[in-house]
Amino acid sequence: MTLAIALGVLMSTAAATPSLGQRMDQRIDDAAARVEQKVIACRRDIHEHPELGNREMRTAKLIADRLRELGIEVKENVAHTGVVGLLRGGKPGRVVGLRADMDALPVTEQVDLPFASKVRTTYNGQEVGVMHACGHDAHVAILLGVAEVLSGIRDQLSGTVKFLFQPAEEGAPQGEEGGAELMVKEGALENPKVDAVFGLHVTSRYPVGEIAYKPEGMMAAVDSFKIIVKGKQTHGAYPWLGVDPIVVASQIVLGLQTIPSRQVDSTLAPSVVTVGAIHGGVRNNIIPDSVEMIGTIRSLDAKMRDDIHARIKRTVENIAASAGATAELTITTGYPITYNDPTLTEKMAPTLRRVAGSSNVRVVNATLGAEDFSFFQQKVPGLFFWLGTRPKNQTAEEAASNHSPLFYVDESGLGLGVRAMAHVAVDYLRQ
Ligand code: NI
Repeated sequence: MTLAIALGVLMSTAAATPSLGQRMDQRIDDAAARVEQKVIACRRDIHEHPELGNREMRTAKLIADRLRELGIEVKENVAHTGVVGLLRGGKPGRVVGLRADMDALPVTEQVDLPFASKVRTTYNGQEVGVMHACGHDAHVAILLGVAEVLSGIRDQLSGTVKFLFQPAEEGAPQGEEGGAELMVKEGALENPKVDAVFGLHVTSRYPVGEIAYKPEGMMAAVDSFKIIVKGKQTHGAYPWLGVDPIVVASQIVLGLQTIPSRQVDSTLAPSVVTVGAIHGGVRNNIIPDSVEMIGTIRSLDAKMRDDIHARIKRTVENIAASAGATAELTITTGYPITYNDPTLTEKMAPTLRRVAGSSNVRVVNATLGAEDFSFFQQKVPGLFFWLGTRPKNQTAEEAASNHSPLFYVDESGLGLGVRAMAHVAVDYLRQ
């Protein structure tokens, strides 16, 4: 044998023998394939029994029972109904957090499914249907699938996996705290301290088999505001005897629109200021004393977020002053920007491409929707990504969006979610 041939034989033998890492990857894929039907059955069970934020009692019990069966340490009643699971690997290493949100929405399901929700409840004093119209049922089922896959290879795991089953992503009932913010406050990221956190969201924007993400700002910060314009009541026929808060409110609505369009650098990041309601007056010929407006502010850059708040204050107060009226502004901060840590994203992107296939992973534009996963990302580096669950024979325009009573999850996309989360966790711990 010449040296060249000998080397060639050696190299091909090396190529044919899978490395330890490759064998582990194969074990994960095999286990993910085995749990797929269970994940679908679990998703249907949760879909048929949806629960609103901070009321996810049945869902929480199902999660805790399943984690215990898998030999995972369980902590219940975190942030009301949240469940934290701890899977300690056989070797020392870092701690990776995997998050799934658990809550449903006050939406009456219109999808024709044998396991469609018929649940009704009272929400803010109104009788409503309850539906997993945002796909959080799929998130819980996927993460329980991941827990099963990873518990099967725990001896080979270097580090710890923390499962964060989180209530009330859509917001807590009036007067209650909840969601990721409360989980962080109650120490869900401590003991042991989470080094990085991952989460996914099913979406009808992308077809089954696809994963999408964006480094840095991927979803918006959401803040709400309330403006009370105070004028002076008078007869509708003699406006000069009073101060008309309706005309001032109208000027403010238009003034606010110039903040995203004229005042901030729209090439840096998009932003939106929306007035969602105006209330004032009782009769056609009376100029009222005051007008109340509420609205939402969406931004994708932290500095711009503060800047927009300051500009709203300036606009509201000065327009009111110009008419001799006064205006009270209250801005209530909501969810922060869903910010994918650029270093972590770059490190984990090859995993997503390997798992889904390079051509099925897209880097996409940000959205002005919001996600409270952002509270975890404020504390530790995190990566949030979209999982396509739109049927392949539908276009994005045809598919009902999240929160619609017609929102539909093609379950053939869930298996990829299990594989993606499991591999992301293992690869992170390996690095
Ligand atoms: Ni959601």
